[in-house]
Amino acid sequence: MSPTTRVEPGKRSEPAGAGFDAERVRADFPILSTTVHGKPLVFLDSAATTQKPRAVIERVDRYYRSENANIHRGVYALSETSTREYEEARHKVRAFLNARDEHEIVFVRGTTEGLNLIASCVGRSRIRRGDEVVISHMEHHSNIVPWQMICEERGAKLRVIPMNDRGELLLDEYEKLLGPKTRVVSVVHQSNALGTVNPVGEMCKLAREAGALFVIDGAQSAAHGPIDVQEIDCDFYVISSHKIYGPTGAGAVYGRRELLEELPPYQGGGDMIRTVTFEKTTYAPPPAKFEAGTPNIVGAIAMGTAIDYLAGVDRAAVARHEADLLRLATDAVSSLPGVRVIGAAREKSSVLSFVLGDVHPHDVGTILDQDGVAVRTGHHCAQPVMQFFGVPATVRASFAMYNTREDVDALVRSLERVIQIFS
Ligand code: ALA
Repeated sequence: MSPTTRVEPGKRSEPAGAGFDAERVRADFPILSTTVHGKPLVFLDSAATTQKPRAVIERVDRYYRSENANIHRGVYALSETSTREYEEARHKVRAFLNARDEHEIVFVRGTTEGLNLIASCVGRSRIRRGDEVVISHMEHHSNIVPWQMICEERGAKLRVIPMNDRGELLLDEYEKLLGPKTRVVSVVHQSNALGTVNPVGEMCKLAREAGALFVIDGAQSAAHGPIDVQEIDCDFYVISSHKIYGPTGAGAVYGRRELLEELPPYQGGGDMIRTVTFEKTTYAPPPAKFEAGTPNIVGAIAMGTAIDYLAGVDRAAVARHEADLLRLATDAVSSLPGVRVIGAAREKSSVLSFVLGDVHPHDVGTILDQDGVAVRTGHHCAQPVMQFFGVPATVRASFAMYNTREDVDALVRSLERVIQIFS
């Protein structure tokens, strides 16, 4: 992912979006021209889920109107079309992540299911009593709990990479955690609560030198810059469709082919088998081995449409645009009285988390909502991050390609109203 933002609160920002036409992009997203409480919607919660362009909405509609049939099963035209579209979506995800071949792409319901799949399959086959799994202090619960569960089951130990007050991982400490007992390192590429972008390439190299597998939670990062799993050289990379402008309930796991071949299946059922008798079942090769039952067919297909949509925008310009918005918002919000920004990593993207004096983040969020400004408030499914910074919750504004300087202005105006109400 690049470029990220170097945020230095107090410094003037460059004009946002040079070379990028956010207004043209906005026109592709019908929901952005709606109103909330009689005010134009200012959507600043794309880290939770992105809005959907017309092409994605229409793809879902068209699928159910004229293509709906189960895949991999029928010999009739509709089923063959549906199967072809589903497998074409797999090709698109392969290209999006720059995986070597489409057998390395497993469709799942989203990042949470993907991480559970990896923890379960790797855990059952490779983690033994006394082994260690390394995660970081800034993980989302979906990259903590599945590893805790498997460590408990297998008698392994979970170890945690610490972070500093800026919300950056301590790489020296990470190196010290790695050793002959480390089986897996699983870290987030971009933190959903802090925006920190981790140096996954460097971290992967260290994990590999220690003989450990390297897993990346890419839920947040995939929307904000190109991902190249071959360049990172990771073993697994997981993404969610709904965070890259596609539908909810779909996502993908990239897994190195030889690993997917070696690992046991995740769930049992139709489509993942080669032969079944009551005595013994043999399994289909990957990716089918990991896709038991009828999948979210239209979700995968429309995720492919979202990837097509992303291919049609200048992603480097998008990244610059989002970085400019983050810098602008960080400058403006951090200069408001009582604001404490949570997370000031030098490499940071698209997320601004903060608290406002003693005002509870939920109260901030409720007042902002009255002004049409949608932000997320709470612990963001990252309670250890909140514990580290000594706050129960934060207000989180997150940016996507369709946000503008006017959205940042609306956020700041509404926060000024919160300050007035509570002063
Ligand atoms: N994990 C998502 C978020 O950060 C839902 O909001």
